[in-house]
Amino acid sequence: MKNKVLKAIFPVAGLGTRFLPATKSIPKEILSLVDKPLIQYAIDEARDAGIKEFIFVTSRGKGALEDYFDGAPQLELALRRQNKMELLKILRKTTMESGEIAYIRQRDPKGLGHAVWCARRLIGNEPFAVLLPDDVIAGDAPCLQQMTEAFAETGGNIIAAMEVPPAQASSYGLMDVASAKGPLLTLKGMVEKPESGSAPSNIAAIGRYILTPQIMKNLNQKMIGAGGEIQLTDAIAAEISRGGAVYGYKFSGTRYDCGSKAGFLKATVAFGLAREDLRDEFGAFLDEVAAERQKQQDIAV
Ligand code: UTP
Repeated sequence: MKNKVLKAIFPVAGLGTRFLPATKSIPKEILSLVDKPLIQYAIDEARDAGIKEFIFVTSRGKGALEDYFDGAPQLELALRRQNKMELLKILRKTTMESGEIAYIRQRDPKGLGHAVWCARRLIGNEPFAVLLPDDVIAGDAPCLQQMTEAFAETGGNIIAAMEVPPAQASSYGLMDVASAKGPLLTLKGMVEKPESGSAPSNIAAIGRYILTPQIMKNLNQKMIGAGGEIQLTDAIAAEISRGGAVYGYKFSGTRYDCGSKAGFLKATVAFGLAREDLRDEFGAFLDEVAAERQKQQDIAV
C-alpha cells in the first residue's frame, strides 16, 4: 500500500517535573488512568493504526517502563491457577514480542526534537509516527489511525491539530494555516510557544505526528528553540520553508493533557465514568461531591 507507516517513536525521556515527587522513582508514563498506564494507551493506539515497530527514547530512571513490557511468567501462572482468565488476557496484551520493541537512550533531556532525533538510525529512510503518551485521546476511531488513513492519501507530514483557548495558546506549538479541506489543514508555518500576541492561530499541535525522514535531516541542524530546547516544531517549520508538504489534521475525539495535574484528574474521572464496572459507584460519589461543592458555594454567597 502507498504511504504506509510501520514505525513509531515514543519519546519518554523527559523529567516529568510536574508530577514530582511521584516521578522521582516512577516514570510519568507508568502513571495510570484507572488501571492502565498512560504508555499502554499509546501502544494500543499505535497498534490499531498498523504500527509494527515500537521505538522508545528513554533516559535514566525509566527501568520500570522497560520492565513493564516484559513477560511476567510467575504472575501469569498465579492467575491461571486462580482461574482469573480475563486478567490473564489483559496481562498478555501488555507483553511485547521479541524484536518489536527497541529502546534508545537520550543522554540529556535536550528537548522533544532531540529525543526524536536520537532514534534516527532505527528510522532510516521511512516515514514514522511520533506519539507522546501524555496526550491521551479518547474517541471512536483511534487518533493515529485517522491520521494514517489521511497519510495514505496525501503523504507528507501530518500533525494532530486541535483548537485551544487563546489564553492557553502560548504553551503549545501553533499552526499557521494556509487552507483547509475537511479535517486536513495545509500549513504555511508553525511556531513553538510564541509570546502572547504573536500566535499565528489558536490551532495547536497535539502529541501525534506522522513525519517524513527529511525531518530527521532537519533535526541534524540541532537548532535551539523555545525554552533553550531542540524543538520538533522548528524542524517541521523548516520543512515548510523547504517547500515540503506539512498538514495539520483536526482529529475527532477528546484529548486529555495527562502531562498536567488537572488534565490527568479530568481523564481519570472521564475514564472512570466510562467503565461499566465503576460507573455506578463512582458516578454516585461524584454526584455527592458536586452537591457538597454547590452547598459550600451557596453558603459563601
Ligand atoms: P514535556 O514537555 O511534557 O516534558 O515533554 P516532561 O519532562 O515530560 O514533563 P515536565 O514538563 O517536566 O512535567 C513532552 C514529551 O517529550 C518527551 C517527554 O518524555 C514527553 O513524552 N521528552 C521531552 C523527551 O523524551 N526528551 C526531552 O528532552 C524532552
